[in-house]
Amino acid sequence: MLPNQDNRHESRSAFRRLTFPGREKTAEMSSGMCKILSSLNPLLRGARAVRPWGGLCCRGRTRPGASRHASRGGDFLRIISLLILAGSLQNDALAVGQSEYKGRRIAQVMGAAGADWLTREDREKFEQPEKVLDALKIQPGMTVADVGAGNGYFTLRLARRVGESGRVFAVDIQPAMLDLLKKNRDRAGLKNIELVLGTETDADLPPAAVDLALLVDVYHEFQKPEQMITAIRGALRPEGVLVLVEYRGEDPSVPIKPEHKMTVEQVLKEIEPMGFRLRKKLDFLPWQHIFIFEKVN
Ligand SMILES: C[S@@+](CC[C@H](N)C(=O)[O-])C[C@H]1O[C@@H](n2cnc3c(N)ncnc32)[C@H](O)[C@@H]1O
Repeated sequence: MLPNQDNRHESRSAFRRLTFPGREKTAEMSSGMCKILSSLNPLLRGARAVRPWGGLCCRGRTRPGASRHASRGGDFLRIISLLILAGSLQNDALAVGQSEYKGRRIAQVMGAAGADWLTREDREKFEQPEKVLDALKIQPGMTVADVGAGNGYFTLRLARRVGESGRVFAVDIQPAMLDLLKKNRDRAGLKNIELVLGTETDADLPPAAVDLALLVDVYHEFQKPEQMITAIRGALRPEGVLVLVEYRGEDPSVPIKPEHKMTVEQVLKEIEPMGFRLRKKLDFLPWQHIFIFEKVN
C-alpha cells in the first residue's frame, strides 16, 4: 500500500453517487413499462435479450406506500407519461454512449442494476473464466488490477489465484457495482481485494505497481479511452501487461449489440498507438478475443 492510497480506495466507499441519465428514473416504473423499455435497448440481441438499463425497473422496486392497483384513468395517464419518459430515457441513453473514437461508436456503460447478467448461468460455458486465467498465467504473489470489475466475476477468481501474498485492485466507476463486489468479496472471505472507485479518465491505481491489468468486456465502454488506457499504462510495471477480452466484432453470430463488440483491427488501431504492442492474441473462446499487450517505450 502506498502512502495516501487508503482513502482513495476501500475507505472511499462513501462512494460518490454517480447517476447515469435515466437509470434513477426507471426505479418506479411498472413491469409493463419495463417490457416496453426492455425492447428498446437491450445489450444482448436475440432471444437472450436482457434488461435495458440493467433491469432496475423490473425488480419490483416501488415507492413505499404506493398502491399496486391504480385506477384506469390513472393507468392511462401513467402510460402516456411513461411513453414520454421512455423517449427521454432513450435519448439519455444515447447521450451517454453517443461519442465515437477512431470510427467506433463508444458503448453505453452497463448499469449496476443489470449486474445479474454478469453472473448468468451460461457465462462459464461461453466465457470459460478459469481457462482464461490459466492462459494468462496468473500466479500467487502477483498484483493484478481488474478494471471495470463489475460485481467481481473475475475479481474473486483472480484473488484466489494470487493468494494471500498477492493483491487485486478491483476498479469500477459505479459505486453500486463496488457495493455488490464488496458483498461478494466478504461472503467469499477474501482479504486481498481492494476496491477502487475510478473515474472516466483514471483508474486511480498506484504507479508502476501492477503486473497485469485485466479488462473483460470493458474497454468498449470507456467514454475516454485514451485517458483511461494512459492511466492504466502508468500503473503497470515495466514488464506488466494489459489484457483486453472483447466480444468478436467480426462475428455476426455473437449475440451482442455491435457497439459492445470489437474487431481485431479496431483494437490494434486504438491500443497500439497508446504505447503498447500486441504480444499475443488468443482465440479459444467461442465469442471473445483475448488480447495481451506489452508496454513499449
Ligand atoms: C459489462 S461490465 C463487465 C464487468 C466485469 N469485467 C465482468 O466481466 O464481469 C463493464 C463494467 O465496466 C465498468 N466501467 C465502464 N467504464 C469504466 C471506467 N472508465 N473505469 C472503470 N470501470 C468502468 C462498468 O461500470 C461495468 O461495471
